[in-house]
Amino acid sequence: MAEIDAETATDPYAEELARLARQARGRLESLARAGAVALPKSPELPAVSRPSPAIAPHDAEPAAEPPSVERPRPAPVASPVVERPRPAPPAVERPRPAAPPTPPRPIAAPSLFGSTGFSTPPLDPAERPAALAVLREEVAGCVRCPDLAASRTQTVFADGAATARLMFIGEAPGADEDRAGVPFVGKAGQLLTDMITKGMGLRREDVFIANILKCRPPDNRDPMPAEVANCVGYLDRQIEIVRPEFICLLGKVAAGTLLNTALSMGRLRGRWHRVHGIPTVATYHPAYLLRTPAAKKEAWEDLQMLMRAMGLVIPRKKA
Ligand code: URA
Repeated sequence: MAEIDAETATDPYAEELARLARQARGRLESLARAGAVALPKSPELPAVSRPSPAIAPHDAEPAAEPPSVERPRPAPVASPVVERPRPAPPAVERPRPAAPPTPPRPIAAPSLFGSTGFSTPPLDPAERPAALAVLREEVAGCVRCPDLAASRTQTVFADGAATARLMFIGEAPGADEDRAGVPFVGKAGQLLTDMITKGMGLRREDVFIANILKCRPPDNRDPMPAEVANCVGYLDRQIEIVRPEFICLLGKVAAGTLLNTALSMGRLRGRWHRVHGIPTVATYHPAYLLRTPAAKKEAWEDLQMLMRAMGLVIPRKKA
């Protein structure tokens, strides 16, 4: 290659070329010192092209086409220098960075199931109700949290189908649930039922509804960390038996526990997570929505995200 010398260059392009040549030579020498013997091809390198007419020197060749005909422009570069300093290309191929998480595809793809965090294969759907019944009995006799065991009317195991595609997970039973032995039957439960039926077009009995705690904390206080630690294993086993395709976490206790985070719901909602490898959405708790109706719009957006992934039809907005 002919040497290009900035000292003797007479026009700005020659100067620029000389500068680039020096830069390239320096880069190659430092790579060689680092042991590189070959360079990978860089497909995204912009083609070195003539400067655009706007900065062309006066003696540049005339444009081949009339200026009124707009040509596709090359990708803009920051300056005619063409290349910004880049990190040196690796001499050996490195493992590629993990692909960014992609939202689950409609009508769950096998790959989603293949990656559950459970070591056991899924139970045959026909066996799931019996497996849940055994677990329900175990929960009914639980006294791990002596205070809760003493104050409860009964444990509140779950509601819905053992073969549900979608599992909702709330916080803990309230007074109504403690009386009924069924989760989400009070005011917040009525709103959840509306979200499932009127919003998502599903039947409540087709989804599975459970809580982090199976006993009511007295005076509707938040679950204590020790209570969560004592109880969450039951929920893990419920998830393991039902193997829902999707999970929806209701409120910060469910989301904080299962996503192991202290982030606010505002930060957690609107995107996909995984719980035991299962695609999971977190949204506002129905009790919060009753207190803060303005948040219903966002909760509906979260449900629509879920519905799209599940391949459910999203009703058109009424005019
Ligand atoms: N709130 C919950 O989180 N769960 C219930 O079952 C009822 C109210």
